Amino acid sequence: MMSRDLRSDQPDVIVRSDATAAAKFVADRFAETIRSLPQCVLGLATGGTPIETYRELIRMHQEEGLDFSAVTTFNLDEYVGLGPDHPQSYRHFMRQHLLDHINIDPSRTHLPDGLATDLQGHAAEYEQQIVEAGGIDLQLLGIGHNGHIAFNEPGAAGDSRTRVVQLAEQTIEKNARFFASADEVPRTALTMGIGTILEAKRIVMLATGAGKAEAVRRALEDPADADHPASFLQTHANVTYVLDQGAASRLRL
Ligand code: F6R
Repeated sequence: MMSRDLRSDQPDVIVRSDATAAAKFVADRFAETIRSLPQCVLGLATGGTPIETYRELIRMHQEEGLDFSAVTTFNLDEYVGLGPDHPQSYRHFMRQHLLDHINIDPSRTHLPDGLATDLQGHAAEYEQQIVEAGGIDLQLLGIGHNGHIAFNEPGAAGDSRTRVVQLAEQTIEKNARFFASADEVPRTALTMGIGTILEAKRIVMLATGAGKAEAVRRALEDPADADHPASFLQTHANVTYVLDQGAASRLRL
C-alpha cells in the first residue's frame, strides 16, 4: 500500500491488491464518515466501479447496523429522457445497488431528474439543494477511460456547474454494455459540473482494472487540463485516489 501525506504536495494514493480490497477500503471510509457524522451528505456515483463498495455498505448495514437514517445523498448524474423506472436510469441503478437495501429516507436521496421539462432550471435547483443540505461531505467518483468525471467529458470547464451535456462517442460505446445496443444509449445527460464536484469537502476517486491505468496516470501526473477532466482534482486539497494494482500500474509514484 502506498499512502501519501496530505500535508505534502503529493496526492493521497492508496493502492490495494485487487478491486475487492479497494472497494472495502472505500466502504470503510464511507462508514467512518457516517458513524462520525450521522447527518452527513454523501455524493454518490453509478457505473460498474462502485457496485462492490455499495455491496459492502449494505452488508455493514445488515450485519453491523450501519445507520443511514439521517444520511442525505446526491448522485452525480442522470441520463436525459430516462425516468426512475427505466432499468438503465441511474435512479433505478441506485435503488437496485444500494438505496433499497439500507434504512435511508427516500426523500433524502437525490438524483437529477432526467424527465424534467425545464432541464436547465432543474439543474440550478439541484445545485441549490446541495447548498441547502450544507454541501457534500464526502464525494465518491469513478473515472472514464477518457478522463471524464461524472459526465464532464473532455473540454468541460474546471468551473462548470450542474447542466445538460452531450456524451462523448467513447462514453456512449462504453455504456452500451448496459443497453440492448449503442443506439439506445441516451446522447445527453444532466451532470454535476467540475466546479460543483470540487466544492465537496472530501473526495474519494475509486478506479480499478488496468483499463483505467492511463486515465489515472494522466489525472495524477499530467498538468491539470480540460482535455482530461479528472486532472482538475489536482486543484482540490482533499482527494484520496483508491486504486487496485491494475489501475495503479502506470503511475511513476
Ligand atoms: C457515474 C459517472 C461516471 C463513471 C465513469 C466510470 O455516475 O459519473 O463518470 O464513474 O464512467 O464508469 P465505470 O465505473 O462503469 O467504469
